[in-house]
Amino acid sequence: MPKRKKMTVPAFTAAKGGKPLVCLTAYTAHVAHIVDEQADMILVGDSLGMVIHGMPNTLGVTMEHMIMHGQAVMRGAEKALVVVDMPFGSFEESPEVAFRNAARLIKETGCTAVKLEGGREMAPTIRHLTNRGIPVMAHVGLMPQQMNTAGGFKAVREKDQFDEVVKDAQAVEEAGAFSVVVEGVAVRLANKITKSVGIPTIGIGASVECDGQILVFEDMIGLFPRVPTFVKRYGNMEEMMRDAVERYSSEVRARKFPSDDYTYKMKTD
Ligand code: KIV
Repeated sequence: MPKRKKMTVPAFTAAKGGKPLVCLTAYTAHVAHIVDEQADMILVGDSLGMVIHGMPNTLGVTMEHMIMHGQAVMRGAEKALVVVDMPFGSFEESPEVAFRNAARLIKETGCTAVKLEGGREMAPTIRHLTNRGIPVMAHVGLMPQQMNTAGGFKAVREKDQFDEVVKDAQAVEEAGAFSVVVEGVAVRLANKITKSVGIPTIGIGASVECDGQILVFEDMIGLFPRVPTFVKRYGNMEEMMRDAVERYSSEVRARKFPSDDYTYKMKTD
């Protein structure tokens, strides 16, 4: 395999319309190390609240969660662009508050960029951050942080909703976002958005019409039980882990573990 260069924000944006961009989430150093071998971008997403911390949704995630996991990921990632999500409540109040929190994520984790959910209403904030040296990945379509106003996690599938989402994607591009996550939208809308903007669209539940794809790592490897229909499981880690725990437990109960191979011998008699 040819030696990969470290992915930068301009290189990521320039990949629009080319070979699909590979993106995955990671929340620990070792997972980041594995994902980094393939991925163009690693997202430290606020989905960590659900898949790591057992929360019912992403609303309880704090800056401290994002910083701790961001630091771990930065220890494992080498080549991929690392983006850290801005948690609910850390950016909506004002562009100034958003800048303070985004700068903290960058200073304390060493990541390159932040991601925030929102369309036209977040454009002034995105402009404020990008004008001050903080690259922003936007996130439109289904926005999990809006679940209470939307009445749940609702995919965008009605034709009369399409124009609004296209306008959101155009507004975040105009404001300076270097890329945009498009979540939970119908194929036709994903196609429309991808054609309407000059920045890469990164789809999750948004079809191959996007310029790249992202999935939550724990969903993708079969470690998290509650997944949306758009998740393809590329492994069944839950089954492997359950099997290992069962075999360990029965060997401990039968006094078969630790056998001689796993025991210190005396150095001298
Ligand atoms: O938090 C997250 O993992 C995300 C992805 C679903 C894009 O925002």
